[in-house]
Amino acid sequence: MLKPIRLANKNFLSSLDISSNELLHILEIAKNFKNKDLNFELKDKVLGLIFDKSSTRTRVSFQVAMSRIGGTTVDLNPTTSQIGRGEPIRDTARVLSRYCDVLAIRTFKQSDLEEYAKWSSKPVINALTDIEHPCQALADYMTIREEFGDFKNVVLTFIGDGNNVANSLILCGALLGVEVRIACPKGYEPNDLIINKAKKIYKNKNLLTITNDPMIAVKGANVLYTDVWSSMGEENQKEEKDKDFLGFTIDQNLVRNANKDAIVLHCLPAYRSKEITEEVIESKKSRIFEQAENRMHAQQALLSCLL
Ligand code: CP
Ligand code: NVA
Repeated sequence: MLKPIRLANKNFLSSLDISSNELLHILEIAKNFKNKDLNFELKDKVLGLIFDKSSTRTRVSFQVAMSRIGGTTVDLNPTTSQIGRGEPIRDTARVLSRYCDVLAIRTFKQSDLEEYAKWSSKPVINALTDIEHPCQALADYMTIREEFGDFKNVVLTFIGDGNNVANSLILCGALLGVEVRIACPKGYEPNDLIINKAKKIYKNKNLLTITNDPMIAVKGANVLYTDVWSSMGEENQKEEKDKDFLGFTIDQNLVRNANKDAIVLHCLPAYRSKEITEEVIESKKSRIFEQAENRMHAQQALLSCLL
């Protein structure tokens, strides 16, 4: 029977903290957990959750994933802990890693997450930062593999803001050799650091495209993906971004122009009539709720390979 293999890196702060083989292994373990083909116990292990931003899926899927493998979680947020009073990360990390066996952290700056990892004696998982959402990408590629069997010939088109979710899709896509296209308004392209890292992994293959034209980007695409236009922490830019992103809604017209077998993904939460229409969310093409479910299986697999 397949068994979780320990990852080479202690932490999962970025999609690139794992190798292509480790990523494929996590996806395989996740599939086995989902199909109930794998029994694995992490008896008495404790996952500490630190969420500086709101969360429904990430929080609950981690809690349930942990309980399914016999462990437990503690959930901290800035208002009910000393984190909000400005206790230094280096102190919080040193203390919590003496109580917990692993920490999953959702915060703003990637550098803060790295600071936690530096001072924590236990593995640290990125539960979303402004730069990456690697746990989301695990579930996304798991959902894509469920649909198409493998990643050969899969073209993934992301339409929206080139930030955390798009960045992790790009990096994981590079690890898996998936063609990734990002369609975003001018000024909202993914940052150069992410693009360059991905291009290095893709080598000479021309599998990453950044464009400002969603209609061109969906031609021949098998996966259409979107995310909110204004991310957490960008509430005051909402009005401006709503204007800038006009024409970047995944609607039936855009879906019709993709490949015939195309599916639609969204990390959720969704704003209907902004980045996606109600009709598309509820259409036969949508795998959005399978994708949300897969967060739990993928994170169960990740925890099993980190602990
Ligand atoms: N997709 C996602 O991370 O959802 P939450 O913000 O609800 O955790
Ligand atoms: N880009 C979004 C993702 C939410 C899961 C945000 O950061 O708010």
